[in-house]
Amino acid sequence: MSSFYITTPIYYVNSTPHIGHAYTTIAADILTRHHKQRGEATFFLTGTDEHASKVYRVAEEQGLDPKTYVDRIAESWKELPKLVDADYDFFIRTTDEGHKRFVQDFIQRIYDNGHIYQDTYAGLYCVGCEAFKTEAELVDGKCPEHGIEPEWIEETNYFFRLSAFQEQLLELYDARPDFVLPRFRYNEARSFIAGGLQDFSLSRAGQPWGVPLPWDESQVVYVWVDALINYLSALTYAREGEDLRAQFWPEARHLIGKDILRFHCVFWPALLLAAGYDVPKQLFVHGYLQLDDRKISKSVGNVIDPLDLVSVYGSDAVRFWAVRAVSFGQDGNVTLESLHDRYQGELANDLGNLVSRTTAMIARYRDGRIPPAVEHSSLAAPIEAVRRDVPAQLDVFDLTAAAETIWTLVRALNKHVETTRPWDLAKDESRAQDLDRVLYELADGLRIATIALSAFLPRSAPEILGALRQPLDLSWDNVAPGRGVQAGGIGPAAPLFPRVDAPTAAA
Ligand code: MSP
Repeated sequence: MSSFYITTPIYYVNSTPHIGHAYTTIAADILTRHHKQRGEATFFLTGTDEHASKVYRVAEEQGLDPKTYVDRIAESWKELPKLVDADYDFFIRTTDEGHKRFVQDFIQRIYDNGHIYQDTYAGLYCVGCEAFKTEAELVDGKCPEHGIEPEWIEETNYFFRLSAFQEQLLELYDARPDFVLPRFRYNEARSFIAGGLQDFSLSRAGQPWGVPLPWDESQVVYVWVDALINYLSALTYAREGEDLRAQFWPEARHLIGKDILRFHCVFWPALLLAAGYDVPKQLFVHGYLQLDDRKISKSVGNVIDPLDLVSVYGSDAVRFWAVRAVSFGQDGNVTLESLHDRYQGELANDLGNLVSRTTAMIARYRDGRIPPAVEHSSLAAPIEAVRRDVPAQLDVFDLTAAAETIWTLVRALNKHVETTRPWDLAKDESRAQDLDRVLYELADGLRIATIALSAFLPRSAPEILGALRQPLDLSWDNVAPGRGVQAGGIGPAAPLFPRVDAPTAAA
């Protein structure tokens, strides 16, 4: 059985989640559900990054000791996946004992392998990025990502010999052209490596919050190193008594936003090589959800709370909109109007009406029983496209294209209703066979679209299959014509996506 291991970045807990964070979690969940349908063993990891200096500072500002603070706020981060129906396998917190132990073991290996040395470093540190910045990276003296002035830091730290891994990383990139997707991100990472790599400080002095270095407890592990290791540490303690590394490493696929490309596409593989581990299978770098061309973020102050959207439109609609509003991998502007329009136009009208019409016609014209299967469906082409293209599109993380392929089938089904006019066929007894055929094609086509959509719409899909009295077997093998069960007892389905009036209801 093949294995599919997917991760989201672990989120900083210096504030609460917004829709930009939900975005990656939704994408990871869709991919996991789809791979499950293909019969693969899946593992979906998400969690929180708790040892950042900015987390420590927020706790201080609130007069709390950092552990009390993170324990409290971690709860609202655990709600995020639930809110969008993301069915993760493990929620890692970097303050977990199992993680801390593993981090120490991991960097001890790097130390023992001779890739760490002591040196003094002075530079500008952006607490937003949790990274040192060069003058050239600043705009008007500020970090362009966070709009804050970096702080001058001078410390004697332990350094990781990243520069020594340049050749090995280039070889890796050359041998595996799909190591990083999309291609333009691969090029970005590769040219960063080719441009020369500088050693970086792997520890912080004088900071009490973090994982102590095993060989010098006066320093803690640099938060980015601590955080990256989560992808591996989780596998060692997520299931008591089991080491999931045997099954899932190096099968990892990391989903990340473009702001954290270097850490993941350069630092992380180098750290793994230094510690004697295989590098992950693949990284996919997505773009930003933006409002008026600005990244949705706490520091810009334009956040959208996913809770507000889900409470008005439901989690399926938010998931669907997230992958359809912006081509996955690109940046794109989103608006509440676009969510409303997709909800109304695509979910309520295209899909919701199709379910209502199909079930109502089967109820009325065939006493609630799906007619016998037909040999060659008129919808064979869009069905075949779903069966063949959706897995291929999801293999390259093109969630947007996969959703469009399925929607082409949904639209074809609606068109089939319009062109065959079952209500006219029903008036003519001599056309009973034609009506049988059309009703079967609609029921079976809708069943197929629904199974394919179940990764995107995990709440609605079982409802639709239920309305069609079909078994709740979401296996991808069932995405094939003619497998519909000739079920009876079908009545007109209740509306799946009830009307929502104002597009700004969630604002
Ligand atoms: N803690 C680090 C990640 C460590 S992973 C080993 C971090 N956390 S974060 O909370 O700041 O960001 C987490 C992810 O959310 C990043 O991938 C980031 O790109 C993503 N997003 C935050 N805002 C976003 C949008 N507006 N749009 C899309 N994704 C965005 O970085």
